[in-house]
Amino acid sequence: MDWGMKNRMSRIIKPETGKTVMLALDHGYFLGPTHRLEEPRKTIEPLLPYADTIMLTRGVLRSSVDPGSATNVVLRVSGGASIIGPDLTDEGLTTSFEEAIRLNVAGVGISVFIGSEHERQTLLNLSELVNQGERYGIPVLGITAVGKELEKRDARYLSLCCRICAELGTHIVKTYYCDEFEKVTTTCPAPIVIAGGPKLETEMDVLEMTHSAIQQGAIGVDMGRNIWQNDHPVAIIRAIRSIVHEGNNAKHAHDLFLSVKDEETAKTANA
Ligand code: 5RP
Repeated sequence: MDWGMKNRMSRIIKPETGKTVMLALDHGYFLGPTHRLEEPRKTIEPLLPYADTIMLTRGVLRSSVDPGSATNVVLRVSGGASIIGPDLTDEGLTTSFEEAIRLNVAGVGISVFIGSEHERQTLLNLSELVNQGERYGIPVLGITAVGKELEKRDARYLSLCCRICAELGTHIVKTYYCDEFEKVTTTCPAPIVIAGGPKLETEMDVLEMTHSAIQQGAIGVDMGRNIWQNDHPVAIIRAIRSIVHEGNNAKHAHDLFLSVKDEETAKTANA
């Protein structure tokens, strides 16, 4: 691996722990103004100090993130479909490598829709991105997307998807957590991060999922809604960080969540 690729990988996966907390903020690229991400700057700013990378589109990066911030960026470079259009899986490449370099990103991210009508197209898009990524020293995050078919998320399907992404040269794979998750991580030769999926009922559910994923071989999270749709986003991201980087269990992380939440509530009351 060349110096540039290694350097960018270490901007995403922290060398001190070998793990990462990525904050996913790219939902608007097919969902429009998602709940609690309506005004991206307001959502993003308080969370920046606690994210190793932010994952988003160039439009939201330019409009809503201060270029002076030290944040590492993984740029979403696929799109072309919307939640109200005919087919969410019909994605192409939306952003050039020249643009990714201009934005000084640490990596680029693309969805693949395996088993869908657009499987071939999205896998060839991923392969082309890896070719370019290898040329310029920019890691590629391959995302095993399921569109509206959330029920697809089981170990059999996700291990197939992750393995295919790794075989095509993906540097980091993003997938969903599922029962028997170890089957997914042990059969994928590339590092895996988990998405959070739709908002879970309780904070404990989020923390237990994160802890189980790490225990079963994930190197971190690339999580969105379960962080910024929480009423206390800073408290939950700090609790998640404590699991990923400090090896906390879900109970200790939940205690941290409660204490940060109380601190914040007191600050607001005194303001
Ligand atoms: C959409 C994505 C999202 O970034 C991803 O789903 C992560 O966000 P969440 O934790 O809200 O699921 O890649 O394809």
